[in-house]
Amino acid sequence: MVQKIRVSVPAKVILFGEHFVVYGKRALATAINQRLVVEVSSREKGGYHVKIENIPTFGLEMDLEHEKGGNIKALPYKDYDTATKAIAYVKESIVYLEKRYGIGGEGVEIEIKSEIPLSAGLGSSAATCVATIAALKDYFGVSGDLEGIRADAHHVEKAVQGAASPVDTAISTYGGYVLVEKGEVKRLHLPELNLIVGCIGSIPLSMDVKKASEMGLKTKRMVEEVKVRKESFVKVFNSFFDASDEITAQAINAIEDGDFVKLGALMNINHGLLDAIGVVPRRLSELVKRSQELGALGAKVTGAGGLDEMGSVGSVLVLPGESGDRIKAAIEMAGALVMDVKTGDAGLKIEAGSGF
Ligand code: MEV
Repeated sequence: MVQKIRVSVPAKVILFGEHFVVYGKRALATAINQRLVVEVSSREKGGYHVKIENIPTFGLEMDLEHEKGGNIKALPYKDYDTATKAIAYVKESIVYLEKRYGIGGEGVEIEIKSEIPLSAGLGSSAATCVATIAALKDYFGVSGDLEGIRADAHHVEKAVQGAASPVDTAISTYGGYVLVEKGEVKRLHLPELNLIVGCIGSIPLSMDVKKASEMGLKTKRMVEEVKVRKESFVKVFNSFFDASDEITAQAINAIEDGDFVKLGALMNINHGLLDAIGVVPRRLSELVKRSQELGALGAKVTGAGGLDEMGSVGSVLVLPGESGDRIKAAIEMAGALVMDVKTGDAGLKIEAGSGF
């Protein structure tokens, strides 16, 4: 009798340098203490039964079964296959692991519980891949190490999205902080920060399938739009890119020195640059402005940003200073989900199972 496996992984936030990192500039990201848990156990019936719950504002349950010819198909009432990112990543993880390591052949229950909102730039896709892969590898006794899990998860994320930043899977696997420089991911040891994250929207169940599928491609679209704008204003954008690179370097020093006033000011400047390249929609802008007005040391959009036409779905990051409660109340009043987070959280944890 195989035991139940339970693993957990953290969400991520990009502290500095999102978008500019696509052009080789430095970016700093960290794990936060919002976690996603995957449990894997046996089931009598064959195939995979997948249950996803507790994702803020979202939940679903479905069967994934083999069709003739070995393809895995979702079997519910609606085309959640394309409507939800989460299921696409679980399915692709299974397909990949079956092919690469020959796992499978018995009934498996996969249960996912998450504190990470979807499509909010907090790394829910990478977290789903890392945790699902780690749990299934452990369950089926596939030996390996953390780096193998990270590489498998990155492969799966890329297969689903077409392109994926290595940052998210690295953070979900290793936790802590990472600096990305010229495409290389380096782990950094920096002190913990207390921040507020405000998220606008997740995919509501009422959203039609087409719109929800587009949401999964939001980051891709945002990156493409920045590229088009850059082509019209090459010199101007290059100066933004260099400024962002310098901001990331100075921010690392400010975190090391515990200089929160400087750190906050750098967040505000970084936000201004993100606005300048056109990735700040109205509702996220309002969350940042309101936080700054209420006394935040710093506030910025984090991750890909957003689009007004996609309901401003996305997240902001606030360094609250003394006025955290007032800022949280204001963010909530504006209809956003509020989370108190700590940076530098632990990476992949095998909470029950044999471990790696
Ligand atoms: C998205 O979370 C961050 C971007 O910089 C894209 C990427 O790094 O792949 C916009």
